[in-house]
Parts: sequence; structure tokens; C-alpha cells
Amino acid sequence: MLKIAVFGSGRGSNFKAILDAIHYGQLPDVRIVLVASNNSDAGILDLARTAGLPFRHISQKQFPSEDAFAAGLLAALQKAAVDVIVLAGYMKHLPASVVAAYRHRILNIHPALLPAFGGTGMYGLRVHQAVLASHESLTGATVHIVDEEYDHGPIVLQRTVPVLASDSPESLAARVLEMEHSVLPEAIRLFAEGRVSVINGQSHVHISPLQE
Ligand code: GRF
Repeated sequence: MLKIAVFGSGRGSNFKAILDAIHYGQLPDVRIVLVASNNSDAGILDLARTAGLPFRHISQKQFPSEDAFAAGLLAALQKAAVDVIVLAGYMKHLPASVVAAYRHRILNIHPALLPAFGGTGMYGLRVHQAVLASHESLTGATVHIVDEEYDHGPIVLQRTVPVLASDSPESLAARVLEMEHSVLPEAIRLFAEGRVSVINGQSHVHISPLQE
């Protein structure tokens, strides 16, 4: 059983997609053991509460320093015996000590085809505005392993989404979000089935399970 924590800062539609995938039997070996947000008003916390899952509002503002915040995060993760952290719209930078403690066990979903249109400041509609401004014909969704930099770690799974001439940033965001809702659960399933390994900093997805 893969025990996951889901971190989000907003409405939580990617979290809901994971919940639905578990509910409909697409993630049989995955259990959500913690939901956390830096924003006490975040929709993701309401969704977790309604689903009867353990949830925490945990923010650096509650701690005297980043080190204390990191220790608080690690304590909550260890108490819940988390195997993998999933960032689903989490807008804060994870402390380096948390990234180190969960090396290659933190996933993030990004609404573009990384490494394009990623990095500091590339979030929300800004991503889609940049894609439209670049006259790309394709964009998409990416799940990658988190390292110390924003949107930078090895890529686990990407799916493309066409850019239409009629697209606005909002219409493109909505189409990409729809794809995110299938890419993220699929990447979590690959993890749960032991099909993802990182060798020399590069991710390798094994079509056949690693252990025969
Ligand atoms: C998604 O577009 C995700 O790619 C980005 O933040 C957004 C979160 O949306 N990182 P939601 O809270 O999952 O609805």
C-alpha cells in the first residue's frame, strides 16, 4: 500500500481527481493518509474534511523560522507514515530538508510541457498566457519528481493538449486542467506499481513492472 500526502493551496481539483481515481478502483494500492495546505481557506481542505480524511492547515507563518516549519512538516509526515508527497497546486517552496528527506518521493503536477513554461513565477494563467504568446500548437500537463528548484526535477509523465486558435488563457487552462486530472493519478499509479526509478538524476518509467 502506497501512503500518500497531498499538499495544495487552492480549490483542490487535482486532489479530487486522485480521490475519484481511488474511489473508482484505478489506484487500488494507494491510500491518502494526510492532506495539507498553507491556506486555511483552501478548497482542498474542505474536500478532505468532506471525504473524512486527515487534514492539516500548516504554514510557515505558524512557526518562528523555516527550520521550525520544516521540522513541523517532517513531524506531520512521519506521524502519518507518508511514503510519497504529491504537490497538487501547492504554491509554496518545500524546505530543502523536506526535499532531502523525501528524495525522489515527491511528485508535482504542472500545467505545461516542462521544461518549457516552468520555473519561478510560472503558475496559474501566466503559464497559458506565455504558451499563447509563443504561438505554440501544443501544450500539456507534466508530472515530475520534485527537487530543490521549482518545476525542475526528472519528468515522470507528460500528456499533450492542442492549443486552438480561438483559445484564451482561461479556455486553454480549462483544457489542460482536464488533462491534469488524468495524468496525475496515472503517474501515482506508476509509482505505486514500482515502475518509476531515478538513475543518475534521470527518471525511468518501466513499462513492465520492475520486479517480475
Ligand atoms: C493546477 O493547474 C496545477 O497544475 C497547478 O495548480 C493548479 C491547481 O489546481 N500546479 P487545483 O487546486 O488542483 O484545482
